[in-house]
Amino acid sequence: MFKEKVALVTGASRGIGRAIAMQLAAKGAKVIVNYAGNQAAADAVVKEINEQGGEAFAYQCNVNDFTAVKEMIDYIVKEYGAIDILVNNAGITKDNLLLKMSEQDFDSVMDVNLKGCFHTCKHVLRPMLKNRGGRIINITSVVGVTGNSGQANYSASKAGIIGFTKSVAKEVAAKGITVNAVAPGFIQTDMTDVLSESVKNDITNSLPMKRIGAPEDVANAVCFLASDDASYITGQVLEVNGGMNM
Ligand code: NAI
Repeated sequence: MFKEKVALVTGASRGIGRAIAMQLAAKGAKVIVNYAGNQAAADAVVKEINEQGGEAFAYQCNVNDFTAVKEMIDYIVKEYGAIDILVNNAGITKDNLLLKMSEQDFDSVMDVNLKGCFHTCKHVLRPMLKNRGGRIINITSVVGVTGNSGQANYSASKAGIIGFTKSVAKEVAAKGITVNAVAPGFIQTDMTDVLSESVKNDITNSLPMKRIGAPEDVANAVCFLASDDASYITGQVLEVNGGMNM
């Protein structure tokens, strides 16, 4: 499906990003596994992809660093000739009620989640325009649509991603580049593992499908939006949430 395509997945050393990298690689893409700090985990993803006959390499870069992101994208374009698929998956939470939320916790979440998308999209656009096409998929969240108590910073960053996605989609729609967002609901990863068993059970029971999503459920949606089958879809938010929000 993605033979000859080059894909960059941010925050791909674990969780949803890892599943997306694995699946893009399994479908033929050369995958750059971006990671912030855990080189051993990123190398393990690359090794697994290689063992399965795919092609991948790891690249360390904090997405909140404008210059470092530019260097990463320049490097990939120089080595591989293009970036066909960009998946903005890197994300963090710093949850607290607004009354207790520090300025630093607001800023750091915005810097990684929203500004990180700005950095990668800005720098990838020129090579994509030159290449006359591309796919950008930004991972937002159900709470970017609905809001969530205790997550004003995170929800704002994820809602920001939705506005950003739609705006950039309009700017580049005529150039063969699609820009979409995927909004996961409650997915089993390290990010959600911090919740207590009782909270997890309560959320699961509230879901129409009565099960927590798997990272692969999100990866399936990303691969669809990255594929030729989705060539007439842009500026959309695809919710992958077991019916959590309709
Ligand atoms: P995770 O915490 O397992 O993975 C996030 C990844 O982003 C980690 O590998 C982390 O190292 C990386 N990262 C953090 N800051 C970075 C930076 N500055 N530069 C580069 N990489 C950085 O979380 P998970 O669950 O896999 O989340 C992936 C995405 O999905 C995030 O954007 C998250 O907000 C979103 N999401 C997750 C949901 C869930 O239920 N797990 C629900 C909705 C959205």
